[in-house]
Amino acid sequence: MLPEGVTIDPLTGHISPSTGKYTKRLSEFRGIYRDEKALDALLKEQGDLVTYEVVEYRADGSDLFFGTTTMMPGRVGDEYFMTRGHYHARQDRGEIYYTQSGEGILLLHSRDGQTREVDMKPGVCAFIPPDWAHRSVNTGKSRLVFVWCCSQDAGHDYAEIASKGMRKLVVAKEDAAACIPNPRFQV
Ligand code: F6R
Ligand code: ZN
Repeated sequence: MLPEGVTIDPLTGHISPSTGKYTKRLSEFRGIYRDEKALDALLKEQGDLVTYEVVEYRADGSDLFFGTTTMMPGRVGDEYFMTRGHYHARQDRGEIYYTQSGEGILLLHSRDGQTREVDMKPGVCAFIPPDWAHRSVNTGKSRLVFVWCCSQDAGHDYAEIASKGMRKLVVAKEDAAACIPNPRFQV
């Protein structure tokens, strides 16, 4: 392992050098957005859009790794494009999200039911404590790009949020973003 300067483009999330990447598409969010008809209509009109891309830089043997998430702007009904959301598999592993461009909301909740929202905007570094579920939501009209950094052994637990949802939803109300309790959230 050797030290290295990694270039990050704040507008595209492009990382150089990078060690891996993946994209998520609209069709993978069936059952997650509450407005199924709006999802079907969007898929029909615009095709299976990429809603976000994750690029990472990982050095084998290091405790930390980092990367970018680049989220496209858009909505399904009144809900903005968002990430799946997850807990870390290890309950003692936190994370940071440092926003580079765009605007959004980071939704968080703890195992014991506390909820928090952190505004995502350039210059704000969000601290995600261990064992808080987290989902990012792009509430702006442009890409939301953020740098994340966490332990390589943090892992992901997607199942819990996939089945229960987050405690809060971010919805567009008269074109402004509002956080409301998720009526479908199950304890
Ligand atoms: C890693 C992390 C981010 C997210 C990424 C996509 O622990 O929090 O790299 O993985 O923003 O979000 P998810 O994984 O929820 O689809
Ligand atoms: Zn995470």
